Amino acid sequence: MSKPKVLITRRIPQAGLARVQEVCEVRHWDSDEAIPRETLLEWIAGMDGLYCLLTERVDNELLTAAGPSLRVVSTMSVGYDHINVGACRSHNVLIGNTPGVLTDTTADLTLALLLATARRVIEAAAAVRNGEWGVWKPEWMLGRDLYGSTVGIVGLGRIGVAVAQRLKGFGCHILYTGNQPKAAAAETVGAEFVEMATLLAESDFVTAHCPYNQNTHHLFNAEFFRQMKPTAIFVNTTRGGTVDQDALYAALSNGEIAAAGLDVTTPEPLPITHPLLTLPNCVVLPHIGSASVATRTKMALMAAENLIAGVLGEQVPNLV
Ligand code: DGY
Repeated sequence: MSKPKVLITRRIPQAGLARVQEVCEVRHWDSDEAIPRETLLEWIAGMDGLYCLLTERVDNELLTAAGPSLRVVSTMSVGYDHINVGACRSHNVLIGNTPGVLTDTTADLTLALLLATARRVIEAAAAVRNGEWGVWKPEWMLGRDLYGSTVGIVGLGRIGVAVAQRLKGFGCHILYTGNQPKAAAAETVGAEFVEMATLLAESDFVTAHCPYNQNTHHLFNAEFFRQMKPTAIFVNTTRGGTVDQDALYAALSNGEIAAAGLDVTTPEPLPITHPLLTLPNCVVLPHIGSASVATRTKMALMAAENLIAGVLGEQVPNLV
């Protein structure tokens, strides 16, 4: 019997590739660069499965180009805002993603951003390299304390809870907001549900962990930043589209908020000429929330299992 045919759109951890190759005939865009859209539309024709990343837009055009053989789209990401779920449903295509395995790694990076912005770590390290490190002085490079602070979490999902767990160790008072209270999760981390306005008025740090969709597009806008304390810090590790970056730039440069730490931006990569990159109180990382060796391997394998189950007509383990 011939093997199911699948397309993998990028170089991925070897373990994931090997697992897919055990079961499927693979056409592989074996590069760290994104597959050009025209190539993707050409190569997808007649495939049974698509193994993609968050950088590939899966829409009606792509599904039509694939034709009726396509059974599953497996994304090596937990986020699936790049996939048109309705279009997949109408083409009878299943979607798999990688929840859970990247929760702790992303929570760790959130803590890194909270600490880097609070303690001005990037700025301070740059000062050493630039020869600005003079004699020790009491009022140079002063930052803010994370320990004992009030942290507001927008979206107490898996990653929000993992961040809160870590913050308990810092003796933080944790507030959260979202569509509704999440009593069970909140109780495990001692987080208190409040309305957004209260969270913004009281938090020393605000960290975003909500999914990106039409309701959260530019949720973090001028009005949001205006309601934060002028001493407060904003951190985002979810998706760039949740932030109105012009408003963030204005808030950071006018002193409406103290600093920001972003692992995600619009667009990605952020052009090096972008105004946010001129600000010393803005730390921007290149979307590395899940970027540990162990986690990327787990994600690659999980996406492989979703793909394989989908092309074999079995239950997809992590079905969106
Ligand atoms: C995801 O999986 O959605 C992250 O943004 C990248 O790991």
